[in-house]
Amino acid sequence: MNGPAGAYWAESLGRWAIPQEILSSAPESPFGCPAACFVAGDDPVETPSRSRALEALPEGGTVLDVGAGGGAAGLGLVPPAARLVAVDQSQEMLDSLRASAQKRPGLAVETFMGRWPDAAGSVPVADVVVCHNVLYNVADLPSFLAALDSHARNRVVIQITQRHPRSMLSAMWKHFWGSELPDAPIADDAAAVVAEEGYEVHMELFDAPATRRADRETQVRFIRRQLCLGPDADAEIDSLLGADGFGPRPAACLWWDVLGQRG
Ligand SMILES: C[S@@+](CC[C@H](N)C(=O)[O-])C[C@H]1O[C@@H](n2cnc3c(N)ncnc32)[C@H](O)[C@@H]1O
Repeated sequence: MNGPAGAYWAESLGRWAIPQEILSSAPESPFGCPAACFVAGDDPVETPSRSRALEALPEGGTVLDVGAGGGAAGLGLVPPAARLVAVDQSQEMLDSLRASAQKRPGLAVETFMGRWPDAAGSVPVADVVVCHNVLYNVADLPSFLAALDSHARNRVVIQITQRHPRSMLSAMWKHFWGSELPDAPIADDAAAVVAEEGYEVHMELFDAPATRRADRETQVRFIRRQLCLGPDADAEIDSLLGADGFGPRPAACLWWDVLGQRG
């Protein structure tokens, strides 16, 4: 049963549903992320999320990365982590993560394909649980958070953008469809749900550097898909995107220590 913060999160997220008339005209599904846009880089990105995870991670410890995508969050903690458990609903993402993991000799990797928290039952506990850029995809936050918490021995570290990831496309959405995108929920609303569920949440705001993980053509194609448009819109999207693409994004690190830390 959701409290007021959980209910507000679910209800405001629901307002991001794409209007049926736009959705039915979409040449391909606007949902899902191409693996090419989320390939993990070779070097970790220094952020508060990484620092908070490192503080709670013993040498040779285990990280669980939920909604791991290509593994940028979890692989960025190797070393000191020597074992990475990754969960994602996309096999293509997990294949990309395994390919990047091969560049880290000695790392033990386990992957679980499925939706969190439904898939959580078979997933082992880890020293630190990380979950980056997933929460805006989750309407039922309380049960998602409970499964993160119950899988952490020491700490849970969540990273999300301060605003919904599709907010970056607000100007383009207005340009092509003439309507405004919603302006809620935001990271503070997620933090309110975490607190409502009884976790001692800390929030740190920062600018997440733009990680150009895909070439321009792939980025434009991903944007076109999210905008429910066809390839004939690519040139216009390319010019609206500007020469440097999207810049750094205001992000939030939400973290808490597990109460009565598990042995
Ligand atoms: C925006 S990507 C972020 C990937 C990675 N964490 C990063 O920050 O680079 C979101 C990922 O979460 C996965 N995902 C979304 N909801 C999920 C859920 N409920 N359970 C498992 N995976 C999920 C998607 O398949 C996708 O790989």
